[in-house]
Amino acid sequence: MSFTVAIDGPAAAGKGTISRGVAAHFGFAHLDTGLLYRVVGAKMLEGTDPVEAARTLTAQDLERDGLRTAAAGQAASKVAVNAQVREALVDFQRAFARRSGGAVLDGRDIGTVICPGAEVKLFVTASAEVRAMRRFRELVAAGEDVSPEDILADVRARDDRDMHRAAAPLKPAEDAVTLDTSDMDIDTALATAIEVIEARKPARV
Ligand code: C5P
Repeated sequence: MSFTVAIDGPAAAGKGTISRGVAAHFGFAHLDTGLLYRVVGAKMLEGTDPVEAARTLTAQDLERDGLRTAAAGQAASKVAVNAQVREALVDFQRAFARRSGGAVLDGRDIGTVICPGAEVKLFVTASAEVRAMRRFRELVAAGEDVSPEDILADVRARDDRDMHRAAAPLKPAEDAVTLDTSDMDIDTALATAIEVIEARKPARV
């Protein structure tokens, strides 16, 4: 039986950690859909046409090195405005969502475009300042040489592009439950998400 949890929200709101925690708690498969756009962005930086890169994407591409860098994130949000790129990535995501045993997909348009029929939709958000500080700490821990000011500017630029693009702009689905994690630690945020899902989940998935 399939059971889809759609988790959307802006960069560094806590979606990834919550999604991985939810998947581990319920035994669901997890797809970080940002990685698909990061692969296409990274390939574009290497000179591949982004639409071609999206059409030929494989599960193996998601294992590439360097997908979590700030440069790959910026490139991802640039290719993500291209409607043909988005269209080429739809089937991969929907097939993942309907696999049996339950699936969690996190991204920007999962509840609105990719899986409008998802059994649970969460919109995870936090203030731009809080998100920038979290991303800054992650990047420093990963050895990148970045400044907090640059990261805040990067978060704002990506928010602006993600929310104002014509194709699948970032916004909560009408039936999404919003989780603002600005003043929450990650354990509380995860526990809240699990509670919301538990209330909607059938006894067996
Ligand atoms: O979530 P992450 O930061 O890895 O996403 C990178 C970029 O990919 C985002 O800024 C967004 O532009 C794009 N994206 C998207 N739709 C998704 C997931 C990511 O447009 N479902």
